[in-house]
Amino acid sequence: MSVEVVCRASPSLALIKYWGKTGGGEARRRSRRGDNRPATPSLAVTLGGVSTETRVREAERDEVYLDGVLQDAERFAVFFERLRRHLGTGLHFRAESHNDFPSAAGLASSSSGFAALAAACSRLAGRELPAGELSDLARTGSASAARSLFGGFVLLPAGARRARALWGPEFWPELRILVAVVTRAAKPISSRQAMEATRTGSPYYRQWLKSSAALLPRALEALERRDLEQLGEAVLLSYSRMHAAMLSASPPILYWLPLTVAVIDACRRLRQEGIGAWETIDAGPQVKVLCLERDLERIRRRLGGLDSSLELLPCYPGPAPRCEVRER
Ligand code: PMV
Repeated sequence: MSVEVVCRASPSLALIKYWGKTGGGEARRRSRRGDNRPATPSLAVTLGGVSTETRVREAERDEVYLDGVLQDAERFAVFFERLRRHLGTGLHFRAESHNDFPSAAGLASSSSGFAALAAACSRLAGRELPAGELSDLARTGSASAARSLFGGFVLLPAGARRARALWGPEFWPELRILVAVVTRAAKPISSRQAMEATRTGSPYYRQWLKSSAALLPRALEALERRDLEQLGEAVLLSYSRMHAAMLSASPPILYWLPLTVAVIDACRRLRQEGIGAWETIDAGPQVKVLCLERDLERIRRRLGGLDSSLELLPCYPGPAPRCEVRER
């Protein structure tokens, strides 16, 4: 009888964005070695309502399937090497992963994907590592994955190797995040490449780093008071400045589509009408709208009226990854 571990993890949505890795040319070399330490602090909420489910069992060699498609081994090599070293095991892993939301389209599927993978492989190797250690391992795959090891509200400081939980999901039960899926198509350029292109090609990169460091305390203070308006203002500045830095790279990087801009505009109008709808955008065209439960339906109706192809996924502060060991 063989054993399989099934882990479910939720993506991490940054309110204050991570964009750029620490160090100069060294950063690129370290990124290849999976160091992935963020040059900006990020503050995130783990999204309940959407998740990645990853099943892992022992195999002859490492293989990762995403929605049935075998993934490029290179993308996972450093992660698995570091995981084995950390666990002191010679095991190899076959992982099958499914997202119940669009993959590689700027919905942070790499965050939930690597978080679930780190947790599942460790359990299969017979270890129940503390979330902090798993966070450090998941960072090897993608820095945002370091945050997905925790539920609720999570901080990944600049330069840090692991994230930490600030408050659990119960801290702000009325908060909702309406994910507006503009397209299910994969993004044209990975966040890894776009980040490096911004660091090397944008004349505003240093300003972006400075501005992120200044936004964090503002956002933290607002979050602590559960003040959506104050938090929303910092959220808006963080994503706008991140995309402004990308747009000033050479060649410029633009993830937005016409419908992305239509959603931004609808949120602005809603705010003018006194409804708290605060949008944020990651490395892709999708828009995530922060609001309170009482306003969700109204915002949903408004965005739903923009275009019949717009898919709307209501999310809320979600849990940490859950794992189960099954006999096959
Ligand atoms: O962790 P990565 O390499 O997928 O990069 C994530 C970058 C953003 O999603 C745009 C911002 C963030 O903090 O999650």
